[in-house]
Amino acid sequence: MVVTNEKSVSEAIKYRRSVRVFKNVPIDEQKVKECIQLAALAPTSSNMQLWEFYHVVSPEMIRQIATASFNQNAAKTAQQLVVVVARKDLWRKRVQSNIDYLKNQYGNKPESDYSKREKFALNYYQKIIPSLYFDFLGIIGMIKFITFQIIGLFRPIYRQARQSDMRIVAQKSAGLAAQNFMISMAAINYDTCPMEGFDSLRIKKLLHLPARSEINMILGCGIRDENGVYGERFRIPFEEIYFKK
Ligand SMILES: Cc1cc2nc3c(=O)[nH]c(=O)nc-3n(C[C@H](O)[C@H](O)[C@H](O)COP(=O)(O)O)c2cc1C
Repeated sequence: MVVTNEKSVSEAIKYRRSVRVFKNVPIDEQKVKECIQLAALAPTSSNMQLWEFYHVVSPEMIRQIATASFNQNAAKTAQQLVVVVARKDLWRKRVQSNIDYLKNQYGNKPESDYSKREKFALNYYQKIIPSLYFDFLGIIGMIKFITFQIIGLFRPIYRQARQSDMRIVAQKSAGLAAQNFMISMAAINYDTCPMEGFDSLRIKKLLHLPARSEINMILGCGIRDENGVYGERFRIPFEEIYFKK
């Protein structure tokens, strides 16, 4: 039996709180990196993995990011930061990675030898995904959107095809990765605070990110100070949010 002092998933979920004040105690860079590796195991729409993780360990960079995050305590007192970035703009590259992976899985045989299932999977990345992600100034996305609404009058159809919809697709998956990260950190008694209160333009400049990338969240990391959690956890009564149908 493997002996581990890691928390179980439900223990880690319950332990995780948004910590606004971290102790001035260093945390292990390698352990945080391992939690980022677990973050990247999150499910992701069409396995497109339109995300990147910037692990900020330099005190000077943390200071600059904290300044651009309105000097909020969760950033200012963090020992390390992880910036989760949604990279919808990388869709062509990710499509190619998926195609290369599939072809390799199929043993790089000639396309004529592919089974029906193999052809379907390849077609998905070669045709369907590009048709969803391809856009030009939002115009093609809008045309697709209207076309899909019309087809949708007659049969079920995927409707989220506008540029803004595809941004949400990328952000959704990035958020799942962020959550994986926070739970993984909690499992080893490390704390986090997710933040969206920051000047995204300044953060992108600091990290040398392209204009079309989007910051999903900045995660402050460290060990909670005694006063680091601001009060009891508040949740809306479960009956108000749970609907059995
Ligand atoms: C997307 C997102 C953005 C957030 N942004 C901030 C933030 O900028 N600053 C902050 O102190 N907390 C931020 N929070 C933390 C929430 O306030 C917190 O999750 C909520 O109050 C529930 O508390 P808990 O996380 O301790 O359960 C954010 C949380 C999420 C999910």
